[in-house]
Amino acid sequence: MSELKISSDTTDFEVPASLDEQGKLTDGCVRRALATMDAHGFVVLTDLLSNAEAAFGLDLIRQTIDDPERNRCSFASETDNRYLRRDFCSLPSNEPVISFAATLCQRLEGVFTEYCGRTRALLEVITLTSYRGSSHQYIHRDPMGVISLLAAVEDVSEEQGGTVFAPGTHGYSGAEYRHGGAADELMRLFRIACNWHVLRHNLKKLWRMRKSGEAPLADGEFLDRVFSTRWDQHQPNLLRFVLGKNNEFSIRMLGPRTLWKLYRQRKTLSSRFRLVQAAPRKGTVILYRSDILHAGPDNRSPVPRRLFAMSIARDVIDAKYWHDGYSPHPTLTAEPLCLGDLLDASLVQRPSAAPERRAKALVN
Ligand SMILES: [Fe+2]
Repeated sequence: MSELKISSDTTDFEVPASLDEQGKLTDGCVRRALATMDAHGFVVLTDLLSNAEAAFGLDLIRQTIDDPERNRCSFASETDNRYLRRDFCSLPSNEPVISFAATLCQRLEGVFTEYCGRTRALLEVITLTSYRGSSHQYIHRDPMGVISLLAAVEDVSEEQGGTVFAPGTHGYSGAEYRHGGAADELMRLFRIACNWHVLRHNLKKLWRMRKSGEAPLADGEFLDRVFSTRWDQHQPNLLRFVLGKNNEFSIRMLGPRTLWKLYRQRKTLSSRFRLVQAAPRKGTVILYRSDILHAGPDNRSPVPRRLFAMSIARDVIDAKYWHDGYSPHPTLTAEPLCLGDLLDASLVQRPSAAPERRAKALVN
């Protein structure tokens, strides 16, 4: 996004995956991953999946997307979903899907079990596909107390919209003492400043799309995205912005005192916080603490962006809170699964790790 400074250098947050002979992350790798997640709120584990495993995941996504009866997600970007700018849907708890989810959990056992007990719930297994013309999500926090995973089953370029994170903005006991005790207030201001740019970016883009041959607007789409009364937290909806009916960003957040603080603190904000965009290569897995500030950008390329995602609770979770923030497939709701189920699952359908992966693991 031209108006917002976003770095694409994620080297500070990357940990190359190294596996032991059981196919799990080595102890050293687990320690580095945990240190990175604790310090920055997320970690980018490169080469966690072999090419065959990534292809297996991509197949699951394709099968789900091709199913006219698929279960569309009920959160985030509903309008984009309606106009096929995005296709966010949950994956059914069938054997291949559970096998893929279990492969990831077992490989990452050392990291997951540091945060989540074995009885903690698998909240959702979903796929996130974005097409050209989607909206850039507002910078937001997911419901706290969850570890979420994004797996790149094919290369994702910046133009396709790899996830944007604000490192170090996650919560923990005492996190408010950071930045001289002003952490919460500074993060609030930073988020507002970012989202002002996101709103402008989305509006400008929609205006251009009116006459665009690349991503033409559907009938009624412009009105639906800018003036609809329908709930959608991630559209540049001016009506809901002015009425104060968008919890992610609205005029209610732009009172005179806040505007004055934004002006006074502008240098502090740009020196203390930054945005980085992950453009994960095939096989990369990103783990993040759910309350870190982040956003799913718009896809600015003609190539669809597909990601596999799943989330595991760190504590007991109220059913309403769960279903407000996550989209379990009806088969998962009917037969809930927990982390322990995935760690104990036998992997009958797991594609074997590539030979080069096994060799690397033995060397490390
Ligand atoms: Fe999110």
